Amino acid sequence: MTDRLVDSFGRVHNYVRISVTDLCNLGCQYCRPGSALSCKVKSELLSFDQLTAVVEALAHMGVTKVRLTGGEPLLRPRLESLIGRLSGIKGISRIGLTTNGMLLGPRASLLRQAGLTDVNISIDSLVPERYAGITGGGDFNRVIKSIESSCKAGFDKVKLNVVLMHGVNDDEIEAFLKLTINYPLFIRFIEYMPIGDRIQAWRSEYMPAESILARCEEKGWQIEPVGNTGQLIDSLHGENDISGPARYYRIAGAAGEFGLISPVSRHFCESCNRLRITANGCVKPCLYWNEEWDLKPYIDDEEKLRHVFLQSLAGKPLRHEMTIAKEETSSKPHTLRQMSQIGG
Ligand code: GTP
Ligand code: 5AD
Repeated sequence: MTDRLVDSFGRVHNYVRISVTDLCNLGCQYCRPGSALSCKVKSELLSFDQLTAVVEALAHMGVTKVRLTGGEPLLRPRLESLIGRLSGIKGISRIGLTTNGMLLGPRASLLRQAGLTDVNISIDSLVPERYAGITGGGDFNRVIKSIESSCKAGFDKVKLNVVLMHGVNDDEIEAFLKLTINYPLFIRFIEYMPIGDRIQAWRSEYMPAESILARCEEKGWQIEPVGNTGQLIDSLHGENDISGPARYYRIAGAAGEFGLISPVSRHFCESCNRLRITANGCVKPCLYWNEEWDLKPYIDDEEKLRHVFLQSLAGKPLRHEMTIAKEETSSKPHTLRQMSQIGG
């Protein structure tokens, strides 16, 4: 293998998150509130040929897992065809999709057949009116149907993402946890990240994911850690580990598991194995770092592409600078992009 994707701190990168559009059909309050987006970069979107070339180059450098994100990735026409092409690339063993679920239900089987292996679906409330409020008009019944169709379509894993927000949905923690007792679901609680221009809301709504464990204790539920419990790169996160950022737990006897994603209170940068490609074709080595490298001029030349990837990794910081103290006092957002342009 040529030019492995190792940064200056020895972290091996084998997971790429690709935003295939920054268009979205919802306006979630923590991501891009207001209304569905208009795509500012449409003409700059990488074509399927270009995306395939990028993933081929990355696969030659050791990437085995691709996650397609947005905006809302299912708004990108003919996504199944892209998935089919990516799944044919030697070395790519997992292709995931992170979606709001509005357009997923009727397409779940086709996506599976095309080669999609994993689906992560956002659902921040189990109360239909509240769900609509948080998402800027999302249809709760549709997301539930999408979850059902995905479970039937035979994906390796269907995970549900819940952004934890104090005073918004924290009274539903128990209801979400009970779902894992009764159904074989993976529910991940994600700490609200201060990305984009929502700093005031973040200050009042952020809560640490660890509070979930306290809730379990209050209820008298025994919990046991499962799988990725957040160890550092040289222990659990070896080169072949393509796991994401969650630490997983199970309530004793439960059918499913819950995960905690704590980028703010307990960052997982030591074990970061991820690169991001933005909707307009830039490589972003860290979610919370403004430096980016434009891939578009080099797409037709794999050697140059590889060089840009290595260059981007050479500057990757040891850890991001998102801390509660900093965000409490800073007057301007640290990230220049909105979450919807990065894809989470
Ligand atoms: P899996 O491969 O299924 O574990 O996926 P994932 O958890 O990596 O993907 P998903 O798109 O579902 O992301 C869940 C949450 O984790 C989102 O809020 C992401 O922004 C966040 N996240 C994922 N990777 C990183 C990261 O490298 N840094 C930070 N700060 N947050 C991340
Ligand atoms: N903080 C935490 N998670 C977020 N997501 C989007 N914006 C934020 C934020 N500010 C989540 C979405 C989706 C995933 C890709 O990122 O809910 O599940």
